Amino acid sequence: MSGGETISPASAVDVDRLWRRHMELAQIGATARGGVNRQALSPEDGMARVMLLGWAQARGFAGSVDPIGNLFIRRPGRDRAAAPVVTGSHLDTQPTGGKFDGTYGVLAGLEALEAMSDLGLATRRPIDLVVWTNEEGSRFRPTTMGSAVFAGALQLERALSTTDAAGISVRDALARTLSAARVEGRRPLGFPIAAYVEAHIEQGPILEATQNIIGAVTGIQGLRWFTIEVLGQAAHAGTTPRHKRRDAFSAAVGMIAALERLMLDDTDRVRFTVGHIEVAPNSPNTIPARAVFTIDFRHPDAMALASLGDQVGAICRCNAKGCTVNVRETIRSEPATFSPEIVSSITTAARRLGLPHMDIASGATHDAKFMAGRCPTGMIFIPCRDGLSHVEEEEASPEHVSAGTRVLSEILIELANSAD
Ligand code: GLV
Ligand code: MN
Ligand code: MN
Repeated sequence: MSGGETISPASAVDVDRLWRRHMELAQIGATARGGVNRQALSPEDGMARVMLLGWAQARGFAGSVDPIGNLFIRRPGRDRAAAPVVTGSHLDTQPTGGKFDGTYGVLAGLEALEAMSDLGLATRRPIDLVVWTNEEGSRFRPTTMGSAVFAGALQLERALSTTDAAGISVRDALARTLSAARVEGRRPLGFPIAAYVEAHIEQGPILEATQNIIGAVTGIQGLRWFTIEVLGQAAHAGTTPRHKRRDAFSAAVGMIAALERLMLDDTDRVRFTVGHIEVAPNSPNTIPARAVFTIDFRHPDAMALASLGDQVGAICRCNAKGCTVNVRETIRSEPATFSPEIVSSITTAARRLGLPHMDIASGATHDAKFMAGRCPTGMIFIPCRDGLSHVEEEEASPEHVSAGTRVLSEILIELANSAD
């Protein structure tokens, strides 16, 4: 793979440095139950960027940001004009998230770059470590916002105008984050990338159950997110007869039940989740005037993603019970297939390093899906304990964290020395 003349950076991956950094970042937004609450563009997100920039700058790697705040940290290559190889992930977390989702891919990328520098290895192409803005989508919808804007799948203006539950816009929160985590450089959206590789915990149970340490990810299932707003009429709960009620929450419950029936499948391939709900005025004895709920719908098959997802609006309107219904699709991404060459390189590197491995499809979504249409793209998974993720008890072992990073370092050096 390394053409004989290239020393492998894997031997210089420093597991203590890598693990210590995970624990240091986990202090920013630490929760009482051992998890992390570091939501997108919060002060904590800014502090995590500052910590990362400190490590990068100590190594002489400079940072730059694009208009949606995606942060790029560059290890220069010999050929300054060559398109970079990009690796990374995200530093934002779920409200009750863990220490590894996203953070791992960022720190594995930094460690791979440092391992190359420790060995004095030069590459032809630059390698950029990316921190995508708002991957989680829990504070500001949708998920994978930064990469979607970068790839042109979501309009910048629409993303910047998105507000959180408190009415704060991405535009304002981003300005605060960038003034806390200052960098000199500016990058355009959508600049050419030679290849993209992201390391991540699996977030599911398969690697652990099969006793594999490395997953060579073949692709990511499709995803559609909707926000449904139901508008009824507030009225007194004790006096208003049934025929006069326009109860927004009651209508929302009927919609969700009908959607659950639509999404039932014997093969257990559909993923359908209503994970967020708001009711107003949210008082026990006032009929709800407004209900809002989100739909996270995923499927590996593009046809099923289209046909089931296209029925969401009609089903909600059919169950409106006299209320007004506004259906907004906040993001759609088709199933993504990763580069067979990168899958095969990951497999080869894992074998060479003596790591049990398998091909695996991703049920979780990742920023890598928006890179897949633009450049050769791949992902490396490592196991997480009990397959748990998006929870405070999310856990990965130092041995596995290091193994995925060693594989990543080998893939990156191979890609960064590739010809045009
Ligand atoms: C990523 O956080 C996902 O929702 O899959
Ligand atoms: Mn993630
Ligand atoms: Mn996540």
